[in-house]
Amino acid sequence: MLREIIIRPMHIDDLDRVYKLEMKLFPNPWPKSFFENDIRSQDAIAFVVEYQGSIIGYSLSSFVNAGFHITNIAIDKEYQRQGIASTLMQKLENIATENSCHYIYLEVRTNNTAAIDLYKSLGYDILFKRRYYYIDGDDAYVMDKELE
Ligand SMILES: CC(C)(COP(=O)(O)OP(=O)(O)OC[C@H]1O[C@@H](n2cnc3c(N)ncnc32)[C@H](O)[C@@H]1OP(=O)(O)O)[C@@H](O)C(=O)NCCC(=O)NCCS
Repeated sequence: MLREIIIRPMHIDDLDRVYKLEMKLFPNPWPKSFFENDIRSQDAIAFVVEYQGSIIGYSLSSFVNAGFHITNIAIDKEYQRQGIASTLMQKLENIATENSCHYIYLEVRTNNTAAIDLYKSLGYDILFKRRYYYIDGDDAYVMDKELE
């Protein structure tokens, strides 16, 4: 399965399908305009994961000074625990390294143990807790990984 997935840039035509997934996978989905901005921004990297013609995941990320910021990543429920997010994260890390970023970082809800475990398994450390980071009042951990 993993060998058959395609990771490619997100296009504006993908937006409706990606946003359907965002609404399915997050209790507090981001505004659609965030996706649109990243698709159009020169400083952002927006990817979709395709499997047999369907979009089954996506990521949003951007270059911020010497760092690379992963702002959103999700894999459709039926396809989770098959290494897809890890593969996508590895691709993002390669891009960050190729672009001479010194570190890669992200925020994650402190109760999102699946995502925290994923990031830990890839070598990310919790840097600190950011109180009330999310609009609903949830706290975030800021996690980062130093790059070679
Ligand atoms: C978090 C998420 C992206 C992980 O995607 P995934 O493709 O299932 O992740 P992987 O298969 O690459 O998982 C790699 C490792 O991460 C950890 N992990 C992933 N999901 C986990 C879960 N539900 N419970 C515990 N550990 C988990 C495990 O260590 C796993 O390795 P293993 O399957 O060999 O045990 C996915 O669960 C998701 O889309 N969740 C909803 C959206 C979300 O919360 N996004 C993150 C926002 S910060």
